[in-house]
Amino acid sequence: MFFGRKKRLETIDMNNLPVHIGVIMDGNGRWAKKRGLPRSAGHQAGADTLKKIVTECNNMGIKYITVYAFSTENWKRPKEEVNFLMNLLLSYLRDSEKTLAKENVVIRAIGGREELSEEIRAQIKKTEEFTKNNTGIVMNIALNYGSREELVRAAKKIAERTKCGEIQVDDITEDMISAELYTGGQLDPDLIIRTSNELRLSNFLMWQSAYSELYFTKTLWPDFSVRDLHNAILEYQSRNRRYGGV
Ligand code: IPE
Ligand code: IPE
Ligand code: MG
Repeated sequence: MFFGRKKRLETIDMNNLPVHIGVIMDGNGRWAKKRGLPRSAGHQAGADTLKKIVTECNNMGIKYITVYAFSTENWKRPKEEVNFLMNLLLSYLRDSEKTLAKENVVIRAIGGREELSEEIRAQIKKTEEFTKNNTGIVMNIALNYGSREELVRAAKKIAERTKCGEIQVDDITEDMISAELYTGGQLDPDLIIRTSNELRLSNFLMWQSAYSELYFTKTLWPDFSVRDLHNAILEYQSRNRRYGGV
């Protein structure tokens, strides 16, 4: 046995799992293009991959997963694609009540709600309500999410509190800013995975990722498998997290 020769032969240390994983699910369009299919087929396949990965994370005992589904910049895409993505998200949320919710998953959406259709806003409320008493993994779906928008929103809230005299400017702390983010009350991501060989954050959890371990893979999101997830966790477990210390 060439034990340890290949990553996948190593075993995951269940006592050192990332508590919170962030995922930038990228490469759906390229996956479809490679197959001569429309981009929408890639998004559909990506949604199926997401279900598998969330189920596995939940089974492993990971506490939080934040998945980037639609960025504040993705509105720039052709109307047709935006509509397809919105409908896909809507049916994903609806289906979740039969699938992920039964697996004890808590589903939440993070990002600006105002720009979303009334139908999606209502479905988000319904799904959040339906799953809020579950005790398994918390899945944050980043939908119309952008870190810069999130920080502006937090700054405005804190400015309001300062203006009305509730707090003084000098009282503002890092914890106060963290609390005003969509992820307020949750731990920062330990590991951020990005698929499709793009080496950037694209406005995803920029405040929260200050000390996240970053994992980039060439695999396109629809092809991302449970084994790929395990490899990302193994890589994470081989990192030395120093947080600026020694
Ligand atoms: C990620 O796949 C899904 C979203 C951004 C909504 P892309 O659609 O960005 O796929 P590529 O990057 O064009 O291959
Ligand atoms: C990031 O992917 C957003 C999501 C995965 C939802 P993009 O495909 O939008 O990012 P860029 O444009 O390559 O940076
Ligand atoms: Mg992309």
